[in-house]
Amino acid sequence: MRELSTPAELIAYRKEMTESVGFVPTMGALHTGHISLIKQSVAENDKTIVSIFVNPTQFLEGEDLDSYPNKIAADLKICSLAGVDAVFLPSINAMYEEDELTITAPKVKGFILEGFNRPGHFDGVLQVVLKLFNITSPTKAYFGKKDAQQLFMIQNMVKHLFLDVEIVPCEIIRESDGLALSSRNIYLSEEERVRALTLSSSLKLATKMIMNKKFNCASIKSSMQEVLKDTKLEYVEIVDREFNHIEEIEIKNTIILVATFVGTTRLIDNIWI
Ligand code: PAF
Repeated sequence: MRELSTPAELIAYRKEMTESVGFVPTMGALHTGHISLIKQSVAENDKTIVSIFVNPTQFLEGEDLDSYPNKIAADLKICSLAGVDAVFLPSINAMYEEDELTITAPKVKGFILEGFNRPGHFDGVLQVVLKLFNITSPTKAYFGKKDAQQLFMIQNMVKHLFLDVEIVPCEIIRESDGLALSSRNIYLSEEERVRALTLSSSLKLATKMIMNKKFNCASIKSSMQEVLKDTKLEYVEIVDREFNHIEEIEIKNTIILVATFVGTTRLIDNIWI
């Protein structure tokens, strides 16, 4: 497995290849969710490249940029065992200059939900993902559905900027008790870990209501809010798959999303109906 640390090195490595390349961008602290994206890429492409870069431009002031979990040795081992061909580990200076052009997320759908609660977050995500796509020139790139709005933003960037890459959405991976995997779960105390289960429980309740033909979004949201009452809720929202607000559930065209703080840890989860 190659370890590359500058864009120039990765561009040169990529130029040697004529085969299909799968790309999995990450911020490290790899867990089973990342491993499933990597395995899918390894299965579907001749070569797989993983990037590990904690991108400063997508963190807001006061967020966990400085304390973001760093497990480089374990991450490299995971990548090597999973059959990754190259890992890209750039420094901030290798990726950014002082005064650069910036990218702004779409003014409406980039500034609702995650974009409303973390203003500027998607600008940073899109900026780094575009840089990474340009350096890697992937055939396919793999993103988890857990960051549903991020996935939607990236699919839109590919469409709007006519980028030549196929975005592959990947299923959410959960612990056996329902907690969606996240690098930030390690911040949770034992008691908070139990409270964090209310995210997936609220989504399970919503699914049950829909199975019982209760399609009214306001009533589903209020039942979910009740389950989440012991957390500091940011939002429960129900949108169609284009992120338009909806009043009634549309089967095969709905995403139910939740974002909440358990203690000081911000968690998100969702379900695709
Ligand atoms: O989802 C993430 O881990 C990050 O937002 C990404 C896509 C690697 C960009 O930094």
